[in-house]
Amino acid sequence: MSDVVQHTTWEMVEGAMERLDAAMAGIDALDESARTKTLELKEALEDFYGATLRQIVRVLKVSPHGEPMREQLLMDPMVATAFSLRGLVQPTLAQEVVALLELVRPQLSLQGAEVVLASVDASRVKLRCSGSAAGCGAGGLQRELTELILSRIEGCDEVVFEEADSGAEIANHVADQAVALKRFVTIGLVSELPESRCVPVTVGTMSLILVKVEGKVSCFRNECAHQGRSLEGAQIEDCTLTCRWHGFRFDAHSGEGITIPGVDLEVVPLRIRDDRIQVASPW
Ligand code: FES
Repeated sequence: MSDVVQHTTWEMVEGAMERLDAAMAGIDALDESARTKTLELKEALEDFYGATLRQIVRVLKVSPHGEPMREQLLMDPMVATAFSLRGLVQPTLAQEVVALLELVRPQLSLQGAEVVLASVDASRVKLRCSGSAAGCGAGGLQRELTELILSRIEGCDEVVFEEADSGAEIANHVADQAVALKRFVTIGLVSELPESRCVPVTVGTMSLILVKVEGKVSCFRNECAHQGRSLEGAQIEDCTLTCRWHGFRFDAHSGEGITIPGVDLEVVPLRIRDDRIQVASPW
């Protein structure tokens, strides 16, 4: 008998999540009595599986071989998803950095910069860069990236940069990281999102704002580009989002600054699957 463990895949996780989403949508369509009973059953099953997973974590914690077993288990996408949905795994520093780099990749690409995680050593993060993020003119961009990482990721004390040997090397890294991060969470339904309103959503530790204008959905980090205050309560009119604090205005589709061009909202990439609005999970 083979002792090689067959891992599940992120595609399988995604398929399972889609089935769950579809089943939840079906429950919503039931009459009240049937919906109540079905939700009770769902809660009982969740309690049962939650208690089971917590017990597995406790046993692994006290077992002499528990830590390597836990690490091996968490390499499996289905297991990692089940544990993270229950809040039983914390992202590693490397995972947090990779997730953050994926979030800012569109802006970096616009500036002709490519940056990937090279290594993590305790609280020191080494990034590998090319394009405008490398060379003698890259100081400003590297400082911005360093500030972003230090301000967003608690366990990181130092960020250093090294130049990639070639563009191809960094492109392979980006592809690997994209695969590693191919985990999406549903954060809302297009059909249920009100038009021209800022709807707050939380994903892990990220606070986001969803906006639907003329049927097009956009997602931004919930921080105004002026002083970083929450965008909840911002007014949206004619595709212009106006922050309630000091009236800075932004394009509600792209997040681009209108009051001060270049002072833009931070866009969070999303995808729409059927009616579901999904963003890459930070872990
Ligand atoms: S914080 Fe939004 S306009 Fe000042």
